[in-house]
Amino acid sequence: MNLKDLYIDFFVSKNHKQIPSSPVVPENDPSVLFNTAGMQPLIPYLLGQPHPYGTRLCDYQKCIRTNDIDEVGDTYHHTFFEMLGNWSLGDYFKKEAITWSYEFLTKTLNIPVNRLAVTIFSGNEYIPADEESYAIWRDLGIKEERIAKLADNFWIAGETGPCGGDSEMFYWRSNDPIPDTFDPDDERWVEIWNDVFMQYVKHEDGTVSELPNKNVDTGMGVERTVAILENVNDNYASSIWSDVISLISQIAKKPYEGNEKSMRIIADHLRTSVFISADNAGIKPSNTDQGYILRRLIRRAIRHAKSLGIDINTDWEQQIAKLILNKYSSYYKELETNHDVVLEVLASEKIKFNRTLEKGLKEFMRLTTNNQNIDGKTAFHLFDTYGFPLELTIELASEKGIDVDTEGYHEHFRAHQELSRARSAEKFKGGLAGNSEIETKYHTATHLLNAALKKVIGHEVHQRGSNITVERMRFDFNCDHKLTDEEKTSCEKLVNEWINQALPVTMCEMSKEEALASGAECMFIEKYPDMVTVYTIGDNISKELCGGPHVKNTSELGHFRITKEEASSSGVRRIKAVLE
Ligand code: ALA
Repeated sequence: MNLKDLYIDFFVSKNHKQIPSSPVVPENDPSVLFNTAGMQPLIPYLLGQPHPYGTRLCDYQKCIRTNDIDEVGDTYHHTFFEMLGNWSLGDYFKKEAITWSYEFLTKTLNIPVNRLAVTIFSGNEYIPADEESYAIWRDLGIKEERIAKLADNFWIAGETGPCGGDSEMFYWRSNDPIPDTFDPDDERWVEIWNDVFMQYVKHEDGTVSELPNKNVDTGMGVERTVAILENVNDNYASSIWSDVISLISQIAKKPYEGNEKSMRIIADHLRTSVFISADNAGIKPSNTDQGYILRRLIRRAIRHAKSLGIDINTDWEQQIAKLILNKYSSYYKELETNHDVVLEVLASEKIKFNRTLEKGLKEFMRLTTNNQNIDGKTAFHLFDTYGFPLELTIELASEKGIDVDTEGYHEHFRAHQELSRARSAEKFKGGLAGNSEIETKYHTATHLLNAALKKVIGHEVHQRGSNITVERMRFDFNCDHKLTDEEKTSCEKLVNEWINQALPVTMCEMSKEEALASGAECMFIEKYPDMVTVYTIGDNISKELCGGPHVKNTSELGHFRITKEEASSSGVRRIKAVLE
């Protein structure tokens, strides 16, 4: 049986409910581009909202972390990974969490205790040392010298949100003799699991307060743990990757040894691209936000394929993507449903990039003949004319030992593009900014706009996507025509009328069937659990399945104005609007 199944079975046997993996593109958290941890979709519940599945949950969650995308190429960095997690929402706490972690590692996975070490939180000026966890580990048989007390064992996703001291578990991943004493700085000890005891919440002003519940949040990386269990020191040599790597090696007609970096980059980047483009959010390569990441990943993979001597005009990337799609589709349904979409995204982005790649590489060589650094204007020229994402130019430059003026590039970019790439770079650093007040308002305004469109255009109109920043809301919906000025004005008028009527926004929990029977609107019904939360505005102006958060009353929204209406894709229109 594989690790994911073993993990889920174990926690189900401890009365946990398995919850489905959330999409890689967060549905209700516009502050991050991708889900970066298993806990991210659970934030409202860690903050106190009752979870429809109860108080003991477990899952495997698709995660994307792109902040160290440039590190990919070594033995253990990945931009996409799966995280196993179990949660207690005000149910069990340290004793059970640690005892089950220990039991799973030593009994289910049969890891010898001698290869394990742990850390605990040593406390700070506000929070005392976690003596309780220390005592629990000692009782389980972990020796004193294998427990490190560390001040930075405190976990939070980003800057604000639920947080707490944590206890991490380490495995001795080396053939060298196992030292008696655990040294957390020795890289042969690798972290495999993290139990976070989330009992605090950090606010925007930097203060920390107690959460209503004492929660447990844990995270175990599948890639790393599988490599350990299979006794390989290179994650890409484990069964998760070995077939993908051998296919790449076969296509390139080159051995893995000596070509590891490029092969790992191709394997990793194509896998992440498969998951991003399979997501129901419908992300396509573009020059902003998630689309930019997708573009960067695909183009970097293509560049490395080229450097391995692969004829990039063949269907090499389709072969690799198909293998990845097959490997994962029994766990993630969208890979099956959106199988063709994924292949199409990869093929068309390749065609686009192929048109200019060769010329761009020549131009790069010409521009750097004397090993001169690349100024902002040149970097922008490579992007604008040859489609070289900045990071690709930086990578090529670093291979030649020269620098790129990224500041200058951004200045040129800003001057040429309406959409700020810089802001998205800020966002994809990951982390969780929490829902600000204005984003919450936009969230409620989104429901009102959805309701207004149904009244003005027709009941067949449904949400196809939504994105909120502190500056504006964006709403995609199905509609076969460009909205007329009258239609736009009517929508604005309706939304503003509802705002002026100071309608209450109420939330209630019900079964999915009940919610649907009551006419509640939702985007992807199959993704919701049996029990759902439904937000209603006014008497019945709007009713939607939604995780929130929302304002309490529409009077908080201010004035609503549509700033743009345009095509998004075939049969889908896009509205941008602001609250003033
Ligand atoms: N949220 C914790 C982590 O990502 C478990 O490490």
